[in-house]
Amino acid sequence: MAVVPGANLRYLSGLNVHSTERIAMALFPLGDQPILVVPVLEAPRAEAHLGFEASFYTYTDEQGPDAAVRQAASDLHLEDKVVGVEHLRMRVFELRQLEQHAQGARFVDGEPLMNQLRMVKDAEEIAALRRAARVNEECFRQVASHIKPGVTERELSKIWQKSALDSGKAELSDMPIIVASGPNGASPHTTATSRRLQDGDLVTIDAFLLVDGYYSDITRTYAVGEPKEELKRIYTLVQEANAAGREIVKPGIKAEEVDAAARGVIEQAGYGEYFIHRTGHGMGLEIHEAPNIVAGNDLVLKAGMVFTVEPGIYVPELGGVRIEDDVVVTEDGCESLTSLPRELDGL
Ligand code: CO
Repeated sequence: MAVVPGANLRYLSGLNVHSTERIAMALFPLGDQPILVVPVLEAPRAEAHLGFEASFYTYTDEQGPDAAVRQAASDLHLEDKVVGVEHLRMRVFELRQLEQHAQGARFVDGEPLMNQLRMVKDAEEIAALRRAARVNEECFRQVASHIKPGVTERELSKIWQKSALDSGKAELSDMPIIVASGPNGASPHTTATSRRLQDGDLVTIDAFLLVDGYYSDITRTYAVGEPKEELKRIYTLVQEANAAGREIVKPGIKAEEVDAAARGVIEQAGYGEYFIHRTGHGMGLEIHEAPNIVAGNDLVLKAGMVFTVEPGIYVPELGGVRIEDDVVVTEDGCESLTSLPRELDGL
């Protein structure tokens, strides 16, 4: 497996190397010592943080990476090997380097293998996910107390952000969080705008942060004053769908069954066409990872898998509702890492 900087490298090695124009790559041969090809300036930090024995093949800016990659490829006899590469992450110039210096090697998609490894979390990872959920929930409590007519979506986004930074524990992702009020809520993925909350709005906040490298991803929908009957109705449906999704989770059932349980509630009430995304996604080192909780995914759930349950209903011009919890599959069921109120008046 050839791994470039990113979540897979962090998972396998603990190394947090940035992806730059300088090639950095870890080669993990079956049953042999890994080789790290890194710029010479990265080597001391990498050596200090690596939890296992590896050989370092370094290069200076003057030399460039060619000789180091060629040497690594030759020492590992890549010319007649099958090499897993990361189809979602490896850049063209990195693949070209490998292809050039490992002629004869067969390059295949290594992402499914990495997904298999990463999908089942160990106790330490679950503890980090739990810490992330706790910090994020506290930020939600802070922001919830500011929800009232007149406040803008952007102000709410800033309040959440400030409480995340003030926690001293959280790191923010590059993606802006979602604050969608009134008709804006009809689009599942928007960013906060300068729209002011109005009496009768629902406002959906979907916010994510990292603690110790692991994500929390939470969505709650709040009421501003007294919303219309239809909004209250779709809120109740999403609340029921979220509960139905969480209730069915246990080892041995398929990922798509969780989707079907949540979706069934919404479909039976005639709102199926307004639930326009999968029910959830795995999370861990990345905010979206395996398993996908989606129709057609017959992956069998195992204890230790962590994913979101986040059904939603989005009615154009009217508004939307999404309720998202992070759950971990346990030996005999599931535990929600998130426990913020799911009631509409749960401020
Ligand atoms: Co999510």
